[in-house]
Amino acid sequence: MDTAVLSTEHAQSGAGSKSVLISPSAVDPLWWRSAVIYQIYIRSFADGNGDGTGDLAGVRAHLPYLRDLGVDAIWFTPWYPSPLADGGYDVEDYFSIHPSFGDLAEAEALIREALALGIRTIIDVVPNHISDQHPWFKAALASPPGSPERERFWFRPGQGDNGSEMPNHWVSNFQGDTWTRTTNPDGTPGEWYLHLFTPEQPDLNWNNADVRKMHEDVLRFWFDRGVAGVRIDSAALLIKDPELSEIPDDVKPGEHPNTDRDEVHDVYRSWRAIADSYEGTRVLVGEVWLPDTERFAKYLRPDEMHTAFNFDFMARPWDASELRDSIDSMLAAHAPVGAPSTWVLSNHDVTRPVTRYGRSDTSFAFATKRFNTPTDRALGTRRARAAALLSAALPGSLYVYQGDELGLPEAEDIPPELRQDPMYFRSDGIDPGRDGCRVPLPWSGTLPPFGFEPEGATTVPWLPQPEDWAAFTVEAEAGDSSSMLSLYRTALSIRRSHPSLGDGTLTWIDSDPGVLAFSRGLGFVSVTNLSDKAVDLPSHVRLLLASSTLENGLLPSDSTAWLRTQH
Ligand code: NOJ
Repeated sequence: MDTAVLSTEHAQSGAGSKSVLISPSAVDPLWWRSAVIYQIYIRSFADGNGDGTGDLAGVRAHLPYLRDLGVDAIWFTPWYPSPLADGGYDVEDYFSIHPSFGDLAEAEALIREALALGIRTIIDVVPNHISDQHPWFKAALASPPGSPERERFWFRPGQGDNGSEMPNHWVSNFQGDTWTRTTNPDGTPGEWYLHLFTPEQPDLNWNNADVRKMHEDVLRFWFDRGVAGVRIDSAALLIKDPELSEIPDDVKPGEHPNTDRDEVHDVYRSWRAIADSYEGTRVLVGEVWLPDTERFAKYLRPDEMHTAFNFDFMARPWDASELRDSIDSMLAAHAPVGAPSTWVLSNHDVTRPVTRYGRSDTSFAFATKRFNTPTDRALGTRRARAAALLSAALPGSLYVYQGDELGLPEAEDIPPELRQDPMYFRSDGIDPGRDGCRVPLPWSGTLPPFGFEPEGATTVPWLPQPEDWAAFTVEAEAGDSSSMLSLYRTALSIRRSHPSLGDGTLTWIDSDPGVLAFSRGLGFVSVTNLSDKAVDLPSHVRLLLASSTLENGLLPSDSTAWLRTQH
């Protein structure tokens, strides 16, 4: 396709400006350092054909909404053919589009149309595992032990009598076992294969040349079609200790048998070389869950990924010292490698902020998710508004998960028979799983499907929407200056036009305990009050934006204000 992209001038100018297509060399190569990236969970964004599942047609129809919101890029969770055993993170064909979502020509059209509105497209790549329906895995099952077809995966004989015990005792990220036993053609029990996630997601063997080559082809295939970057799923898990040794109690950095092994960096160096061989900056964004910030930052060395999700900030409780500690440690970790931090409040895997911040435990951890957790939604919403402004003011790029700009709460009452997420099933229904943050978006009207489907569609959405979501529709919020959508639109517009926001540094301002105040460049200050009383604002010439109404000039608790401090 035509790789022409928009001039920086246009991209900065916001909604309604005239598109000017020019050569990529004139485009800001550092766009990704300050970008606002909107995550599209395609099954739930908008349904264009009325089959109950979101699709590319639905996204194309709503591109002007995303332009008006003020985002620089969209990131699609996997859009490939897939049995959807794990929401598309079980890929059957990396070079095509799931028929429920559209086809390749439509994806190309979408990439072009988005770019014409100043929006780049980032796609998800899933290198650690593949679908069990992929031809490679089917061929492996049909081939004998030791065959080249099995070498692309981790097949092993079992331990114990007749190989009836698993080859090791690694525990799945989705709870439960990481090994499944195969059946030989004659019906006898055969080898086992490794899957760090579900049995439908066999792990690939990254020591195998076919595996490396196919993923390099995947990158080129999509970069050739104009995508501006890739989000790399489970990026720290690719390389395994070939011995598949048990996990020691006291594991040293780099010595874990399946996570963050040093050899993984060679993979990303080769991917960076591919990305850098394209015009315009094509970015690598890693999903890297690592508690050790120094190990995390190694992925962001100048010849590896551009950025990675900052999950530390997302997981911290709504507490000033915790958040300050996270901000300081993440900025310090990024500084030596020269990479910008990212700021992420949620995604398709975690509890919606409006719900999370309204609970007595406001931190996030997969292990502690439970049904029937008491939630003060008004308080959560107030804090989520404050968190939105806080995160948008911090130095680096910003991710917004679809629906957070509407303040959607977690949908907690999905009937058991309609739930889809393997995390729910593999915990025997103890962990509510991730369906509650994946419910189809409400666009308009007062009853489900709230404009998610076209007029007259007879199929219901793939996950049910709560009946009481009328107040959360785009239509309802667009006309309400006090809505979450209005807050996001104003915040992103200020962020885009303000020279000090996005990439850069911050300077902390002395403030009361419980308050996070910092300046960005000359003239911009952000103040977040996490204490339980209203506080004075630093001297300023103008209030640019506040997440709640000031009380006699004071910033109330659980609120953020953005200030102009110079003429
Ligand atoms: C991380 C993805 O965000 C999640 O949705 C998925 O289940 C796992 N990786 C496995 O691919």
